[in-house]
Amino acid sequence: MRVYVLNGPNLGRLGIRQVDVYGVTGYAQLVADCERHGRELGLDVVVRQTDAEHEMLAWLHEAADEAAAVVLNPAAWSHYSIAVRDACAMLRGPLVEVHISNIHAREEFRHHSVVSAVATGVICGLGVDGYRLALHHLAQRASPIRQSE
Ligand code: DQA
Repeated sequence: MRVYVLNGPNLGRLGIRQVDVYGVTGYAQLVADCERHGRELGLDVVVRQTDAEHEMLAWLHEAADEAAAVVLNPAAWSHYSIAVRDACAMLRGPLVEVHISNIHAREEFRHHSVVSAVATGVICGLGVDGYRLALHHLAQRASPIRQSE
């Protein structure tokens, strides 16, 4: 099963950016970890990051066309991009929204995500572990018997 792990603006700076909030794991390490977990779970994982909203929209359209599953960290777009939300609403496969930090324990403008209402589920505040948990969920959902063995 194909899973797109899509990351929004500034997430390419992980490991350098506000390490007290987002941790010390760098973006390259996150990509390697997602790919490895994907292999272990029998998923075909494609990890991407962009700072350009139009590029993210094109990737979401691609995932919608393929009826693929998506793990999305919309980053700052979570809080205001109706365009990203509308593209998410078109998805035909499951969508897991991931936030590394606990957005509810931070500034008030981060408390609401416009994406959450169209997501299958949301993981937030568990650090980069959230990505692994999201992939695990998608594998389990696709093949409940095999994954629980
Ligand atoms: C984030 C939380 C957002 O509020 C922020 O703009 C990000 C990252 C997270 O992963 O915790 O860039 O989505």
